Amino acid sequence: MWPPARPSWWRGHALVAWVTRAASPGLPRPPHGRTLRAAGESWGLSRHYSSAERKEKVDMSRFPVENIRNFSIIAHVDHGKSTLADRLLELTGTIDKTKNNKQVLDKLQVERERGITVKAQTASLFYNHEGKQYLLNLIDTPGHVDFSYEVSRSLSACQGVLLVVDANEGIQAQTVANFFLAFEAQLSVIPVINKIDLKNADPERVEKQIEKVFDIPSDECIKISAKIGTNVESILQAVIERIPPPNAHRKNPLRALVFDSTFDQYRGVVANVALFDGVVSKGDKIVSAHTQKAYEVNEVGVLNPNEQPAHKLYAGQVGYLIAGMKDVTEAQIGDTLYLHKQPVEPLPGFKSAKPMVFAGMYPVDQSEYNNLKSAIEKLTLNDSSVTVHRDSSLALGAGWRLGFLGLLHMEVFNQRLEQEYNASVILTTPTVPYKAVLSSSKLIKEYREKEITIINPAEFPDKSKVSEYLEPVVLGTIITPDEYTGKIMMLCQARRAVQKNMVFIDQNRVMLKYLLPLNEIVVDFYDSLKSLSSGYASFDYEDAGYQTAELVKMDILLNGNIVEELITIVHKDKAHTIGKTICERLKDSLPRQLFEIAIQAAIGSKIIARETVKAYRKNVLAKCYGGDITRKMKLLKRQAEGKKKLRKVGNVEVPKDAFIKVLKAPSDK
Ligand code: GTP
Repeated sequence: MWPPARPSWWRGHALVAWVTRAASPGLPRPPHGRTLRAAGESWGLSRHYSSAERKEKVDMSRFPVENIRNFSIIAHVDHGKSTLADRLLELTGTIDKTKNNKQVLDKLQVERERGITVKAQTASLFYNHEGKQYLLNLIDTPGHVDFSYEVSRSLSACQGVLLVVDANEGIQAQTVANFFLAFEAQLSVIPVINKIDLKNADPERVEKQIEKVFDIPSDECIKISAKIGTNVESILQAVIERIPPPNAHRKNPLRALVFDSTFDQYRGVVANVALFDGVVSKGDKIVSAHTQKAYEVNEVGVLNPNEQPAHKLYAGQVGYLIAGMKDVTEAQIGDTLYLHKQPVEPLPGFKSAKPMVFAGMYPVDQSEYNNLKSAIEKLTLNDSSVTVHRDSSLALGAGWRLGFLGLLHMEVFNQRLEQEYNASVILTTPTVPYKAVLSSSKLIKEYREKEITIINPAEFPDKSKVSEYLEPVVLGTIITPDEYTGKIMMLCQARRAVQKNMVFIDQNRVMLKYLLPLNEIVVDFYDSLKSLSSGYASFDYEDAGYQTAELVKMDILLNGNIVEELITIVHKDKAHTIGKTICERLKDSLPRQLFEIAIQAAIGSKIIARETVKAYRKNVLAKCYGGDITRKMKLLKRQAEGKKKLRKVGNVEVPKDAFIKVLKAPSDK
């Protein structure tokens, strides 16, 4: 019976939405020299990709709605989504088949360096099936929980998904989460069991898991090896046969949903659009439903997977559109574009992402404020799940408080700022959004509400003014071989978690459900889980509201001066352990200086932990006496360069990466 009834352990995902992303025009091309190949000369595509030939336009009128299929590839991290996408691009002739095609759709430098997908990415494939030409819009999505907003947005552009499961690892936590995202969006699900070439592959066991957990008959599973290409063609046939075409109409007035955007320095905003109705072409006058501003369309096209201009885009198709939007604020993700004088009911758009972690971001040098502002604006256009509020601090100057979906998301955003915009920033300790119910009438008047959300630990209200504090909680799913269950339960207990459910998904795999305080998992829970299960356990979570908690604000001081980056809110029972650990880690990360440094953790005026960094006696330069001027100059130069990477807290010089090291080191000792 399809769709299956929801199992009792499932609590629904709240996220809704869709999408994909344009080939980032300003970014370096992937190292492998790939070429574009036409699926037949008749499509008007050039065989080899070059900027001149790219300008040859594709005729998209050849793809009526009934010949279009829009689908996403979803899976747990590393189960092979991007590798499968490579094979599908090759099979359809979208890219040449070469040994160098490795995760071709992972175009960002950060994706290639980390080997993970962080942005959903579209490619339009042309495929001949039983004498008919089809347009298959494929969206490769990220697998990590921190990027699930990309998945949920992608799904609203699709009528179906390929749910890829590793034949060796079986169903994992993100497989479950992603399946239910697709299920709730009422999409057709094609289960694909990948990596059947592996020595330990057990596709039959995985088939049974799929049947048990998702209620999908095992004969619907397609078994493949994306790496070697075994049986991949049958996926294309299944996409055509099992996924319905979009419900869109060419004759209706234009209704185009902006589902993603990038900013190009020369061309302005490049909007990724999905046409729910109508037709759009160069020269059309279009209006943004959000701003009511009108624009003239300069270029439309499809992602193939690079930009390929087209004469027109038609209902049901997915592509890009450039219309002279020069300001990043003009392109709103979720906006509806329509033809001037033919207004339409705007599409529902997307629910905004709910940040799980907040951190302050400041320029290393205040003179860089405007450049950093512009970089953040452009990057958030491409990553709409990041929220930005202006913020300022006495010690760090003017900056912002940014909301992320998790710590990996924060790291990736920071890395993208550095790599794509050459921006260098100071990040403060990430915090989860706590709440306080105020009792002080003066404060209630000031905030104009009784319950406030605290996203900046420096603004944590004193206990005397609060009737209760609340902390965010999540419902976590852990899937593990049963031999690790005991250790995992102990870890969860240490993280103040409450067990909600435990089911066997096959003879030796267990699925555990826990209610966990978000602050207990945000930094290193996943790492601890991985290390105590030898890498076998997987974890995913969803928002589950708030619970009362005894919270305190903890300061870290260097020679009596508060380190703004390290102010943190902690549970009362954990304050001492956390304070001690931070002091110890900071001691390890601080270089010795010419005087002694006292590192202290304090709650209010009470010191709860202390470490000392002894003074460094020798002066390196003192040795360079007399004629050794060159060496002295070199040392001075090196010192000056080093200082650029330092931040001063009082008289103490702190290397910029010291705080990151403090925050990232594992705490489950
Ligand atoms: P994320 O985007 O980070 O979630 O990963 P992904 O799901 O896109 O997985 P990816 O395609 O990056 O593959 C992960 C690893 O599995 C890579 O090392 C691939 O080479 C390998 N892999 C993918 N498919 C197969 C397969 O069929 N057989 C084998 N043996 N390895 C595979």
